[in-house]
Amino acid sequence: MKILFINGPNLQLLGQREPELYGGLTLDGLEKNLGEIADSLGVEALFFQSNSEGAIVDRIGQTLKDGVAGIVINPAAYTHTSVALRDALAAVKVPAIEVHISNVHAREQFRHLSLTAPVCLGQICGLGTDGYEWALRAMAKYLKEKIQEKQRDGEKNEN
Ligand code: DQA
Repeated sequence: MKILFINGPNLQLLGQREPELYGGLTLDGLEKNLGEIADSLGVEALFFQSNSEGAIVDRIGQTLKDGVAGIVINPAAYTHTSVALRDALAAVKVPAIEVHISNVHAREQFRHLSLTAPVCLGQICGLGTDGYEWALRAMAKYLKEKIQEKQRDGEKNEN
């Protein structure tokens, strides 16, 4: 079961960028930790970061071909502006969880609106980079439950 982590603009600078808001862990360090947690949960973690809105839209579209079962996405600044990202998530219908490292609701007004959250299962914010781990655990549980549901439905249809 593949879970794709997508990080948007400026998140390649994690560890250096405003550490008082975003913490001291680098993106490489974060991805390494998430890969280990994914292994322990029996799922496969894939990683993608881009500063370009179009590249993120392309990567989301590709999930229809590469068997990604779930998406954990921090769209960063595009959260607040991108109809294209929202439409991409809605188009592929791959379940997604939105993550923000900082508590966007306790910051400037323009960060309170998320265009992408309404097409996600839910949003985790304000828990630092740990939020990605909680999103991974939640997504793995959600996907496993979906598989079990399908199996139960299949058994019902056989009877
Ligand atoms: C962010 C919050 C956004 O408002 C901001 O533009 C980011 C990071 C977060 O993880 O807290 O780049 O998504």
